[in-house]
Amino acid sequence: MPIERYEGPREALLTLFALADDSPVQIASYVGLGDVLVARQGEAVIGHAQIVVTDEPGVLELKSLAVLAEHRGAGIGRELVAAAIAFSRERCARSLIVSTATADIANLRFYQRRGFRMTRIVPDAFRPETGYPHDLLIGGILLRDQVFFELKLAD
Ligand SMILES: CC(C)(COP(=O)(O)OP(=O)(O)OC[C@H]1O[C@@H](n2cnc3c(N)ncnc32)[C@H](O)[C@@H]1OP(=O)(O)O)[C@@H](O)C(=O)NCCC(=O)NCCS
Repeated sequence: MPIERYEGPREALLTLFALADDSPVQIASYVGLGDVLVARQGEAVIGHAQIVVTDEPGVLELKSLAVLAEHRGAGIGRELVAAAIAFSRERCARSLIVSTATADIANLRFYQRRGFRMTRIVPDAFRPETGYPHDLLIGGILLRDQVFFELKLAD
């Protein structure tokens, strides 16, 4: 599956961004930032990875990642993360961070399988004031807290 830099309008990727974040308000605040890598099937974009700079020098963030539901389980997510890591190394980043909901057990597994380590919890990051529904369940667990992961890139 070829992964390439995306140069088109970000609005065309909003369906993918919405798969990775339940808050349209939050998405609007970062959709235009950084660089986006995409997986394509023919001309169609079927997965994306957005990499943005952080306030910390040398630290990049995998801000958004998703694969269309009908294309999941085929290794595309793995390839997108590998491409985001390679992209970050090319930019001489010392680490790549990513965050997800503590409620999302599948994502906790997914990132740890890619070598990411948990570094920080932000309690109540996902609440109506930050653009999230108050009663959203993920696999029966309330969407509430955010966990950050880090992958160290420097040798
Ligand atoms: C997370 C996501 C990007 C993974 O994409 P994907 O293309 O399905 O991932 P892959 O096919 O590369 O599989 C990743 C792992 O999940 C496993 N897997 C895939 N489908 C599975 C299934 N139905 N049941 C159990 N395991 C599954 C794979 O075996 C692989 O295992 P490994 O980590 O041991 O190698 C995708 O599920 C997604 O878009 N989710 C919604 C958006 C989201 O949550 N984004 C992240 C927000 S932080």
